[in-house]
Amino acid sequence: MKDTMTIVNNRTNESYEFDILDPTRGPSVVDISSFYAKTGMFTYDPGYTSTASCTSDITFIDGAKGELRYRGIEIEKLANKHSYLDVCYLLLNSELPNKEQSEDFDLELRHRSFLHEGLMNLFRAFPSNAHPMATLSSATSALSSFYYDHLDIKNEAEYQEMARRIIAKIPTIAAFAYRHSIGAPFIQPDIDRSFTENFLYMLRAYPGGKMHRNINGEDHIREIEIKALDTIFTLHADHEQNASTTTVRNVASTGAHPYVAISAGISALWGRAHGGANESVIAQLKMIGSVENVDKFIERAKDPNDEFRLMGFGHRVYKNFDPRAKALKALQDQLKNELQLDSKLMQIASRIEQIALNDEYFIQRKLYPNIDFYSGVILTALKIPTSMFTPIFVIGRTVGWITQWIEFKKDPKSKIARPRQLYIGK
Ligand code: ACO
Repeated sequence: MKDTMTIVNNRTNESYEFDILDPTRGPSVVDISSFYAKTGMFTYDPGYTSTASCTSDITFIDGAKGELRYRGIEIEKLANKHSYLDVCYLLLNSELPNKEQSEDFDLELRHRSFLHEGLMNLFRAFPSNAHPMATLSSATSALSSFYYDHLDIKNEAEYQEMARRIIAKIPTIAAFAYRHSIGAPFIQPDIDRSFTENFLYMLRAYPGGKMHRNINGEDHIREIEIKALDTIFTLHADHEQNASTTTVRNVASTGAHPYVAISAGISALWGRAHGGANESVIAQLKMIGSVENVDKFIERAKDPNDEFRLMGFGHRVYKNFDPRAKALKALQDQLKNELQLDSKLMQIASRIEQIALNDEYFIQRKLYPNIDFYSGVILTALKIPTSMFTPIFVIGRTVGWITQWIEFKKDPKSKIARPRQLYIGK
């Protein structure tokens, strides 16, 4: 017998039964898809705080325990033992690659990292001070015009190729968007460099592709920087039905091109309540200016009449420590030791963290530092330009968006996203 939930309308004394669906992990779900048909009423849930919008077997989060898994594997294990590209393979194929699969995947992505010459003209049309996120979102949308194939969703090889192509090209588009924003010539990808190293190379190389070398003859992309950025990509790779992923799924539901759906996801991510927070964290630390000013801003964050919020604190799902933030905190401490960093921003950040973790306001509301709090500080330490923080989130998340797009398309229960409303107008 199925488990059900009975809802009684106390106005009419009528009762209605709904199925309870059980997950493999996490809370059970009440199937209210027949709610309107049975009751003639809608449900009301602004911000979807109680709504499961789909079934999924990609990513699992337990916000109370601070647990995150991709395809069943703990994020800590993936971040410590696997490369970002292996994590991409895992998300797309449901299992980690063997050595040969890993090498083939890496090689294919290197070859696919180049952009169509026609797309290059588009970058030049943007104002020179355009934010890289604006250019990145537009150029990703424009990519759909270069690959305007109507995908046969029954053909796995076709959509897997479409996924690998967008994962490979996004770092190049992001790097070009940055180069354009500083008036520097574009640096083409170097297929002798790995995915993550190549991105740093395209950001930093001189015209012609030369890299500045230190006295030991090493170019200025250090192993520790590549490892740190690779870990950041892994920690951002997917996060179930967050705002940008929901946007991607909503656009997918209308049958639009997948790259347009990804472009919409990029736009949704840009907001400072979501991925834009990593840039805002640094702007806020700079505004606070010194360790002595921290208490004053903490008081402002707690004042209900002040709109000021501590950027990089709080999360809709994690009501315990965000496991991604925990991994980044460890990475930050490692970088601090190995690169002997102790910047003013790091000191301010660490003072905020110390106060907030012990303050009743934050404890009561379960507000912990989130992934953006540490990624902002780490990326600053790695001398990544602030305007590239959210594009770096985009590079990491592209695999999650496209994997969710594929899942949506393959799900026979998928429908156009079309919520209703509680009308309160004339
Ligand atoms: N600083 C101070 N107070 C906060 C903060 C914060 N960063 N975040 C939440 N609160 C308070 C709210 O004022 C509210 O207090 P109240 O109950 O007294 O009214 C309570 O905590 C609950 O906050 P909500 O806004 O209802 O929580 P919600 O789940 O809707 O929002 C969000 C989550 C958007 C992340 C929020 O915590 C926030 O704005 N944080 C700052 C921005 C940020 O860091 N975003 C990145 C999120 S991670 C990501 O997207 C990758």
